[in-house]
Amino acid sequence: MSRLVVVSNRVGPLKDTGRAGGLAVALVDALTETGGLWFGWSGDVSEEGTFGNLKQGGGTRKVAMATVDMTQADYDEFYAGYANRTLWPVLHYRLDLADFDRRFEEGYRRVNERFATRLRPLLQADDIIWVHDYHFLGFAAELRAMEVGNPIGFFLHIPFPAPEVLAGLPNAERLVRRMLAYDVVGFQTRRDAANFRRFAVEELGAVERDGDKLDIAGGTVVARAFPIGIDAAGFARQATTPEARRNTARTEKLLVGRQQIIGVDRIDYSKGLPERFRAFGRLLEDYPENRGKVSLMQVAPPSRAELDAYAEIRRELEELSGNINGRFADLDWTPIRYMTRSFTRRALAGLYRASRVALVTPLRDGMNLVAKEYVAAQRAEDPGVVVLSRFAGAAEGMPEALIVNPHSAEGVASSLQTALNMPLDERRSRWQAIFDRICQNDAAAWATSFLETLRGRATN
Ligand code: UDP
Ligand code: G6P
Repeated sequence: MSRLVVVSNRVGPLKDTGRAGGLAVALVDALTETGGLWFGWSGDVSEEGTFGNLKQGGGTRKVAMATVDMTQADYDEFYAGYANRTLWPVLHYRLDLADFDRRFEEGYRRVNERFATRLRPLLQADDIIWVHDYHFLGFAAELRAMEVGNPIGFFLHIPFPAPEVLAGLPNAERLVRRMLAYDVVGFQTRRDAANFRRFAVEELGAVERDGDKLDIAGGTVVARAFPIGIDAAGFARQATTPEARRNTARTEKLLVGRQQIIGVDRIDYSKGLPERFRAFGRLLEDYPENRGKVSLMQVAPPSRAELDAYAEIRRELEELSGNINGRFADLDWTPIRYMTRSFTRRALAGLYRASRVALVTPLRDGMNLVAKEYVAAQRAEDPGVVVLSRFAGAAEGMPEALIVNPHSAEGVASSLQTALNMPLDERRSRWQAIFDRICQNDAAAWATSFLETLRGRATN
């Protein structure tokens, strides 16, 4: 069997440190099954950058790792610049927050090219290459220019917006054209894949065929949804480990019979956190019987803190939680428990178990693994309820969650009230349907389905 080479900006860690985003978590789950080489950024900035030594190690017998540094200019222009100040907001439908700067665009192109140059000598003839996320949209185009003929697939972990939105990005056509150098382009949802195909047809003159293929310039690209999964059975087991149990017990002791709503998100404007806090305030306002009885635990580790938009949202959250707590708190009850530390996923599994409701209300999210983890961690005999934004990719595969519009404080408060009062038999039937589905469509199934499609393309 051919070797799998995975490329992503963040590489590892393979250990559960609580410092990962959804991409790293999913790739650890998938690569542990398949084995292979994982290549990307070391996380370090040095003078030599991508010209420096290749760092190897930190892997396991099955998963080897190879990383390179970035220079300060690469970090500023590629990572903090084009990736996170331009692409991240645009792909999350936030043109208003995007910075368009020529230097960022050039830095992005340069770093894609440099990383491809460093990977090139590590490649073997029958490798199959799988590139991940918005940092490396142009990676296949660079490898092809170096005469790499191996199958190369791409998976986008974040949303792909409607063409009307993407058209606001200067040179969007060039960027999408470069994505067509991949053999397979995968998305989190059918909507994202359809947006991509429509852009390619309307703006680049591609021809759509068989529902998921694009013919362009004599070649064919498969562009369709491969919704990402978690290792659901493994995560369910995590919830019964001693560390998870300790966290469940500590939380339940504090709750003394009250109910807890939980949210777990990197601090990011895409996650709808201020809207969520306001909706919780609205719950206490509109349904006063919950005062003193229900609290919101929000785990919110900081992310990309050097970017203004991220620092601002953090200030806003501090102010909002302070206001709501100041207004409603009582001697023995704090409405919002807002924590900016991170937890291991094992610890989170315990917190999910102690919570009656998961409140997952991003304004836009590629998938949202937290929604799936919450379900996997529940006790089958007394499971909780997911209140889920219609704008999270996860909503496409979870119709049994209570689906909400995160912009409506009133609507979210009313769904929270329904969730908090849902009878046990209804909680169980909704939970069972979601749990069965996430077990079936788990991380291994996701990787297998993508890689089978990619291998299939290679033999065509
Ligand atoms: N996570 C973690 N510790 C924390 C907060 C989050 O390990 O303190 C994990 C969480 O369990 C999940 C991932 O980070 O696996 C977040 O993925 P998601 O898709 O929800 O959002 P993303 O951060 O990728 O936007
Ligand atoms: C999301 C993105 C990932 C990214 C992660 C953490 O999950 O899809 O590509 O790694 O956020 O963000 P960071 O900028 O710290 O890598």
